[in-house]
Amino acid sequence: MHPNGTAFTFAAAEKGATIPTTLIVPLFAKPQSPLELVARVDRLCGDAVTNLLAAQSLGDKVGQLAHTTASGACRRVLLVSLGDAAKLEPHHVRQAAAAAARWLVSEKITSVALWIDTLTGAGIDQAVAEWAHGMAVAGFKFAAYRKPEDGVPRKITVQLRASDGGHVQRALASVKELTTIADSVNYARGLAHQPANVCNPATLADEARRLAKAARLKCTVLGPPQLRALKMNGLLAVGQGALHPACLIQLEYRGAPKARATTVLVGKAITFDTGGYSIKPSAGLEWLKFDKCGGAAVLGVLRAAAALKLHCNLVGLVAAAENAISERAYRPGDILTLMSGKTVEVNNTDAEGRLILADALTYAQQKLKPTTLIDLATLTGGVGVALGKAAAGLMCNDDALAADLGEAGRRTHERLWRLPLWDDYRELIKSTEADIKNSAGAGKRDAHAIVGGMFLKEFVADDIPWAHLDIAAVATDENGTGPGGKNATGFGVRLLIEFLRRRGG
Ligand code: BES
Ligand code: ZN
Ligand code: ZN
Repeated sequence: MHPNGTAFTFAAAEKGATIPTTLIVPLFAKPQSPLELVARVDRLCGDAVTNLLAAQSLGDKVGQLAHTTASGACRRVLLVSLGDAAKLEPHHVRQAAAAAARWLVSEKITSVALWIDTLTGAGIDQAVAEWAHGMAVAGFKFAAYRKPEDGVPRKITVQLRASDGGHVQRALASVKELTTIADSVNYARGLAHQPANVCNPATLADEARRLAKAARLKCTVLGPPQLRALKMNGLLAVGQGALHPACLIQLEYRGAPKARATTVLVGKAITFDTGGYSIKPSAGLEWLKFDKCGGAAVLGVLRAAAALKLHCNLVGLVAAAENAISERAYRPGDILTLMSGKTVEVNNTDAEGRLILADALTYAQQKLKPTTLIDLATLTGGVGVALGKAAAGLMCNDDALAADLGEAGRRTHERLWRLPLWDDYRELIKSTEADIKNSAGAGKRDAHAIVGGMFLKEFVADDIPWAHLDIAAVATDENGTGPGGKNATGFGVRLLIEFLRRRGG
């Protein structure tokens, strides 16, 4: 399971190294970057930057490009707009870098110099690192099943250049951290894109074992016999209609063996969601292979944590199943007794994510003694109705955890917005035949995302800090408005690494 695409590597110019023939210069459009800064880069390209700016003004939209030929050591110059200096945020740098990356790929350029003096704003080191992250995610292309396009580079080297060599050295250290993270973001995206005929619960477990070997993680996979012994009937029921049965994948990273704190991450991995007998309409069904994005993100976080050697203990649980339709599939009206002992009336087989997560959350609490419990899931279409694609829904029983996750979201621009879990909503999942039902019922459109959170809350002890991230709307970028194009986004990987780092990882 390997995605293709273009990888970007970043390096300092060795002493006396020749400069690549293409030069990228990021610049503010408003106010224009100071002339003395521009003059320094002009030496590399026979005044091409000044000449270009004299001939046309740089567009003020972030990522707008202008290019020209030059007569200096560099013969092609690409100016990339950083927009308005007063409004610059780190994610704008990513967006600008992504535009530059796409241009390089389309021009089939394999080696380029990047002028970093003008990448100011949030601090040059962070800005250069964001730039590297933007290029890395823009380079992602899921092309595992097609012939490589002629001349499209597999690798582009970016030589950092500055008027002060010290800047380059310092920037490279932060570049390293963010490119390591971006690599795992792209790993999660590649998994998410795998079609359901290739990626089923069994092959996803194989991939987790392979990852565990490469990253030195411990991997355990619970199949149907173990799931039956544990009475994980939610996970079993959702998977019972498919050829490949459900499994629970467990990956462990012990980066702080002496510490008691353990964060458990739980990911929803429905490898394909037909809706079951509560069948989904046919339009857009091909997107439902992305219903495993929560699980893919959990694998990505474990991979990145190991690569960064984070000082923390982390367990990833991926609840994997295919929500299929067949004579063996579970039905609307079925009543399940989940691992916790609670009974659930299944009034909608399309609300399957909460059933598999409920069992995984129970397993986490009974077997892993988490000090923090976080689940990620493409759980409801309703979260997009509430928040669009600007933020994922955050539901949480602990204000300190909500605050820390919120802060990590702001810093990484994988933003979260909290929705309430008030008792008022408990009404919506009351059942007459079982302890609770798994959805409010046909035609009941109130508070869909919250109903999902309320259902999960039933399976979490009040004294365990727990957060539920509903990533249904942000896990994919159908319009290609973000730096990663029209692809899965890997949402959650960078966010949770930032969260773990800030908590002392
Ligand atoms: N996986 C879907 C949610 C989803 C839909 C994610 C489209 C991404 C794109 C989930 O299993 C689901 O179907 N949720 C239902 C819940 C409802 C039946 C209570 C929904 O949101 O409509
Ligand atoms: Zn569903
Ligand atoms: Zn689903």
